[in-house]
Amino acid sequence: MDLGHTDQDIPVKDETEREDIELELLLEGIHRLYGYDFRNYAIPSLRRRIWHFIRAESLSNISQLQEKVLHHRPVFERLVHNLSIPVTEMFRDPNLFLTFRKKIVPLLRTYPYIRIWHAGCSTGEEVYSMAILLHEEGLLDKARIYATDMNDRSLEQAKQGIFGIEKMKLYTKNYIEAGGTRSFSEYYTAKYNSVIFQPFLSKNMIFAEHNLATDRSFNEFNVIFCRNVMIYFNDTLRDHVHGLFYESLSRFGILVLGAKESIQFTEYSDSYEPLDRVEKIYRKIN
Ligand SMILES: C[S@@+](CC[C@H](N)C(=O)[O-])C[C@H]1O[C@@H](n2cnc3c(N)ncnc32)[C@H](O)[C@@H]1O
Repeated sequence: MDLGHTDQDIPVKDETEREDIELELLLEGIHRLYGYDFRNYAIPSLRRRIWHFIRAESLSNISQLQEKVLHHRPVFERLVHNLSIPVTEMFRDPNLFLTFRKKIVPLLRTYPYIRIWHAGCSTGEEVYSMAILLHEEGLLDKARIYATDMNDRSLEQAKQGIFGIEKMKLYTKNYIEAGGTRSFSEYYTAKYNSVIFQPFLSKNMIFAEHNLATDRSFNEFNVIFCRNVMIYFNDTLRDHVHGLFYESLSRFGILVLGAKESIQFTEYSDSYEPLDRVEKIYRKIN
C-alpha cells in the first residue's frame, strides 16, 4: 500500500518527539539485553551524556547507537562507563567530614563494631577519606567499610588506592578543612605521577559491584553514604533507592546524602530526623 510518504517526511510534532521514542527504545533494549536499568534516570542529564557518547563514537542519532549497543557488547560497556560520571574527590565538601567527626563519631564510639556502606563510591576517594577519619578517631579496627558502584572500572581503581599526584594539593587542603590532625602526606607514598595510599587503610574495605537500580539490600549498616549519585535519578528511582537504604540501615542508622540532596519530598521523609540539615546527615527513627 502506498501511503504517499517518502523516507524524509515521517511527520513528528518536533524532533524531540522522535528522540523521546528512540531514547525509550534504547533504554528498554539495554535493560532487556544486559539487565542494566537506566529507565528511571533523570532525562535531561541522561540525554546530554548519550549525545556526548554519540558524538564520541562518530554516530549521528540514538537509533544508530541502539544498533551498535545491542550488537556489540564493548560499545555497551563503553556507554555504561560514560553514563557513570565518576567525578569525585577526597574529603569532598570538607565541612561534611568535619561535622561527621564532631557529631557522628561520638555515637559510633558507643557501638561494638561499625558497618559503613558507601553506595556509588566511584574511584574510592570518599572511602579512603572515611578510613583516614576513622583511623584518626581510633575506630578503623572495629569498622567494615563496604564500597559499591555499578562501574567495574571505577571499582578496580578504588581497590588499588592509587590516585593522581596532581590532586594531592587540593586533597591536603580538604583534609585540613575536614579536621585532619596529621600531616596528610603520612598516608601515601608518591611514585612517578601517582600516589598509593597506605595498605592499612584498605584492610577493612570490601569492594563489590552493586547496582542501586536493580540489586537488593545485602547487609545491615550503621551508616550509609550515598552522595552525588541520586541527583542523576528521577523521583521513582530515588524513592526506590531510599527504600533500599531504609531496609539496609540498623535502628537509629545514619544516612548521609550529597550537598544538593535531601530526604525531604521523598516517601521516607518521616522515617528520619535531621542530625545536621546543612550537611544532609539524617538518623533513621522509625
Ligand atoms: C558523581 S559519582 C559520586 C562519587 C562519590 N559518592 C562522591 O560524592 O564523590 C556518582 C557515582 O554513582 C555511580 N552510580 C550511578 N548510577 C548507579 C547505580 N544505579 N548503582 C550504583 N552506582 C551508580 C556512578 O558509577 C558514579 O561512580
